[in-house]
Amino acid sequence: MIEWGTGWLGDAYLWIKALHVAFVIFWMAGLFMIPRFLVYWHPVPAGAPEAALWDERCRRLRRIILSPAMVVSWVAGLSLGFHLGWPLWLVVKFLFVCLLTWFHHWMIGLHGKFADGQRPVTEKGLRLANEIPSLVTLAVAVLVIVKPF
Ligand code: HEM
Repeated sequence: MIEWGTGWLGDAYLWIKALHVAFVIFWMAGLFMIPRFLVYWHPVPAGAPEAALWDERCRRLRRIILSPAMVVSWVAGLSLGFHLGWPLWLVVKFLFVCLLTWFHHWMIGLHGKFADGQRPVTEKGLRLANEIPSLVTLAVAVLVIVKPF
């Protein structure tokens, strides 16, 4: 019988890690794309045919890439975490991933507002926000590879 706790994934550990890394790549690709889509959509007047196109592109990106990739990354990541027993580097990484998940939901909220014709952030603000996933990726890469603590 498999015990829940440290080592519980057994030989499946590396397979789950491979799945985790693949879906993290899909998730990050989506998180890099959605703010760019909003930057291009920003100057388009509400009701213009181009606005409907950007709305559809964001919708598809969310449905096909962002949402499934986030769920699989989380489920696989948590499974790996319970296998390892939550060392400190992983707890710190977890906080960065929470920041990334907040960013994901912020972008989803912005998509809804853009679709209503609102522009609650400037184009420059969006370009700056675009750097958040890059900084989180750098921090996470150091934490999972170097494991500084
Ligand atoms: C949902 C929260 C997450 C948890 C709990 C989690 C947990 C883990 C764990 C325990 C490992 C195995 C580390 C090892 O075997 O040494 C791992 C691997 C990895 N994670 Fe995550 N992860 C999460 C999300 C993410 C995100 C968002 C990224 C990218 C930004 C990411 C990138 C990676 C990478 C690149 C590896 C492979 C490291 C290696 O080669 O050993 N993870 N993750």
